[in-house]
Amino acid sequence: MCGIMGYTGDRDAKDILIGGLKKLEYRGYDSAGIALAADGTIEIFKDEGKVAVLEKQLDQAMEISKTGIGHTRWATHGVPCKKNAHPHRAGRVVLVHNGIIENEKELRAELDRQPISDTDTEIAAILLDTLYNGDPLTAIFQAIKRLEGSYALGILFEDQPQTLYAVRKDSPLIVGRGNGENFIASDIPALLEHTRQYYLLNEGEVAVLTKERITFFTADGQQVNKEVLTAEQDLQSAEKGGYAHFMAKEIHEQPEAVQATVSRYYKDHTLFPGEEFNIQGTIRIVACGSAYHAGLLGKYAIEKWARIPVTAEIASEFRYNDPILSKEDLIIVISQSGETADSVAALRLAKARGVPTLAIVNVWGSTLAREADRVFYTAAGPEISVATTKAYTCQAVLLYLLALKLAENELACEKIAALPSLLERVLEQGEQCRALAQKFKQAHRLFFIGRGQDHALACEGSLKLKEISYIHSEAYAAGELKHGTISLIEEGTPVIALLTDRERFSKTLSNVKEVKARGATVLAVTYENADLAGVADDILTLPPCSDLEAPMAGAVLLQLFAYYTAVERGNDVDQPRNLAKSVTVE
Ligand code: F6R
Repeated sequence: MCGIMGYTGDRDAKDILIGGLKKLEYRGYDSAGIALAADGTIEIFKDEGKVAVLEKQLDQAMEISKTGIGHTRWATHGVPCKKNAHPHRAGRVVLVHNGIIENEKELRAELDRQPISDTDTEIAAILLDTLYNGDPLTAIFQAIKRLEGSYALGILFEDQPQTLYAVRKDSPLIVGRGNGENFIASDIPALLEHTRQYYLLNEGEVAVLTKERITFFTADGQQVNKEVLTAEQDLQSAEKGGYAHFMAKEIHEQPEAVQATVSRYYKDHTLFPGEEFNIQGTIRIVACGSAYHAGLLGKYAIEKWARIPVTAEIASEFRYNDPILSKEDLIIVISQSGETADSVAALRLAKARGVPTLAIVNVWGSTLAREADRVFYTAAGPEISVATTKAYTCQAVLLYLLALKLAENELACEKIAALPSLLERVLEQGEQCRALAQKFKQAHRLFFIGRGQDHALACEGSLKLKEISYIHSEAYAAGELKHGTISLIEEGTPVIALLTDRERFSKTLSNVKEVKARGATVLAVTYENADLAGVADDILTLPPCSDLEAPMAGAVLLQLFAYYTAVERGNDVDQPRNLAKSVTVE
């Protein structure tokens, strides 16, 4: 979602802001802007479209500005256009915002100034300017008492040209500490070129940055000291490293990512050393999108091996369903970013009801990681492409390890430990996936079918394909098709049939025959020597592997297929339209 970058120091702020915004492009956006402060004036440059479009306007920018804020906007209130792009100005206040001001309507009615844009952000700027009497901190503390919803704000006051203010609640924002210069940013990649030292802002905290000093305050105005952290990721992790797209790079990083995740939780033949689980109730897995699909796999594996009841639920539903929870349950929230608004809300709901929580998260220090009772980190490393690949696979692997731990079945871990080399072999099938992508790229719609863990895999394969190729796709439990959807199958309808689960092979095969009999073109994904004669038009075969490893191997194959289909269709693979990497609004 929106990206924020702010700078104060001795260098040219515009170059630093543009560089930072480019590093935040992966978050997904539709317009961009910067504000530059100097000598009691603030200049704003903004436009619809990419940062590169904005950059072209900057020849007219003031010669020297050493303090500024920048923003990439993912539209929520108001269409993507110049007027709605950030920064927004109201009197002496200029700000950028990530989040949603939920009481915007009431504030709009109450404040006696007409906004220029359609955004909730401009209302926050008007509120701040109304409260501003020359003391920025007082105005900010008063404003945050009035603002409802989620916000990360970077704020400039025209008469304080060398000071940058920041505040956050329910939206990510970090503060970077440099040498004679300081920064704010939505995420670490924007800082790495300048510094590795950063601070996390807690809910409601305010930061005041000058080039020499950073001061922090709690929401009620108490000054606080904070621990400085060091970012571990390297600069290259935010580069494409010779690949055409981040997605291709991240697909190929999976053996390493899985290896790192497995070694974190399986040491000296012991699973989750030092961790104890005593679950008397139900495990409730809650997540969004692909993380939810990993949760479906987790449900399958934990119920199968550990015989503990598990539900897998979509966070945006769970949070409003008034779920019936017991203190004997365990809520597992899964998220790559650790910032997904609905997942964070689900975690808070569970905590408020006294139910133990566990977060499976990729981003270190993210909101979910900080707020959950326990955290297991996936070690996928930074994921830049909007469509998740390596983080998803690591989530699935971690859940399978957890299932084996709960089942006290450490023997099967050897198979998981061998996954990296299996994934290497899957990656050798890139050319086959590319050839199939050429065949399927003209499809208008298609279906993924499977049973058991293949159903979870179907859900993920289908989402991956549709989000980046823009081909409409639906995932179905194979046995469910004939309860309505099979009426859509006609001559040439593509069906991707997942048959990697040996226990269910013959059942799924019957369903494949049913669609074949109605004219479907079938691409089967299956294991070696599976007998599909006369049923499949094309086959993608997994390298020899057990049922335990198949969902991860299958996911990588389907990622390659989705990737090449999107490339063949000429799409923006890493930043598909309308999507954001980190969904920080509900
Ligand atoms: C799909 C995808 C999304 C995310 C979802 C949850 O490729 O990336 O569906 O899985 O938005 O995001 P996180 O995992 O950050 O909570």
